[in-house]
Amino acid sequence: MVPRRDDSLPTIRCGMVGFGMIFDETYRPVFETRADHPLYTPATGPVAIQLAAVASRTGVRAARYLESAAGQRHPFANFAGPDAVQRLLESGVDVVCVATPDDRHFAPARAALEAGKHVLIEKPSVLSLAELDELTQLANQRGVLAKVVYHKLADPDHKKLRTLYHDGILQHVNNGYCSLLEPKSISGSQFAEWIRGRNPATYVAVHYLKLIDFSFGPTWSLHRITATGQRGLVGPADGPTWDSVQLQVVYQYPDGREAAFDIHTSWVTPENFPGYVEQEVQFRFDNAVWNAHQRKRGVEVTVENRTPGELKYTPNYHYNGTFLEPWGERTQRGYGIEVIERFFQEVAFVEYGGPAPERSQRLHQMRALTYNDLSADRRCVAIVQALEAILAKAASGVPGCVVKVNTPAGGLVLYEPGNVTPLVLYAPRV
Ligand SMILES: NC(=O)c1ccc[n+]([C@@H]2O[C@H](COP(=O)([O-])OP(=O)(O)OC[C@H]3O[C@@H](n4cnc5c(N)ncnc54)[C@H](O)[C@@H]3O)[C@@H](O)[C@H]2O)c1
Repeated sequence: MVPRRDDSLPTIRCGMVGFGMIFDETYRPVFETRADHPLYTPATGPVAIQLAAVASRTGVRAARYLESAAGQRHPFANFAGPDAVQRLLESGVDVVCVATPDDRHFAPARAALEAGKHVLIEKPSVLSLAELDELTQLANQRGVLAKVVYHKLADPDHKKLRTLYHDGILQHVNNGYCSLLEPKSISGSQFAEWIRGRNPATYVAVHYLKLIDFSFGPTWSLHRITATGQRGLVGPADGPTWDSVQLQVVYQYPDGREAAFDIHTSWVTPENFPGYVEQEVQFRFDNAVWNAHQRKRGVEVTVENRTPGELKYTPNYHYNGTFLEPWGERTQRGYGIEVIERFFQEVAFVEYGGPAPERSQRLHQMRALTYNDLSADRRCVAIVQALEAILAKAASGVPGCVVKVNTPAGGLVLYEPGNVTPLVLYAPRV
């Protein structure tokens, strides 16, 4: 049964900047479902979510989608080219979602906030603390939300990890490792247009940086960051484009004890590797060890001529899956989708969750959610900025740098081996 659409409902009109893989995986299902099934919370009542406009580099994918059956049912304005974002902002959207490549988030996010739109940015939010400061200040000035997508925080296994830590069952994390390895098709074709000068850590290690910081970090402070990696497959061995990266982050507790985490990322794993996207974590506590392995937690399936290309050997249906529900409906659901819907609920709460004079209280309440608010992304962005600076130094012939945090010389300070003069990446405290 297709529910009746009610044009009198409060509606959040969304502009999408970037219309690539992640749009198709997580945003598209939200817009397709919510066009007919409004979001509902007791505070807001039903609120419709509508994809109203798209801005992308060429507009080709969006045009193809508009021609499809789903696109015909839910048409939107399709802007392409250098002024696409400006035209999208002028088209009357309320919210802007930014899903462009990782080094192209800042400009559209700033333009959207300047125009007074609520903003959701794919991780990594931005690549420097100066950019983060500018966006958070703008969001404050304009009275809107600025948030970032970290869907791994909504993974039930990670929620349980945090719950057990919070409840004192897992006590005092000391160290751990995380790895996320992507297949060669990601670097070779999916991201080929923008991959020059980039690395796989910035855009996937952040999942774990946030998981660690958000789950374990209310009292500790970030202390230092180091990184190294390999080149030669995606680009030349002496060039700026990285095949794989190993990042180490060290935190310090108030009593001086340290915690260290190693995060390994790659986008050159063999295409037919069973895990496809291979993900593993281990965290060691004073009294416990937590292991989680993507391939060992769930389904393993082989279908002649269909795995591992069209279907994956070890799919994660909790993240995202298409289902025939027991009650007959076709749905697409999972925590990757849930986390986007949650953002729209937060916008709906600000705009429709009570009387207009109390809007600023509701805004304050939603900003205080540290799992996704941009103002709570400081330590992750600091690590990303340090990582990018360390890799740039290595590519220019100076490997082995370390970035220290909140030193007398500045908030984020890079030290080269054998050079006594530090380079201040960010002067204020992190
Ligand atoms: N949440 C996740 O797990 C997850 C997974 C994959 C990607 N991502 C993030 O999503 C973002 C996009 O990744 P993707 O895989 O969809 O990439 P993609 O290469 O498939 O798509 C990028 C899109 O951005 C558009 N674009 C590029 N430059 C633009 C510009 N200057 N202005 C407007 N549009 C522009 C392209 O036209 C394309 O539509 C990245 O930040 C990435 O880190 C998140």
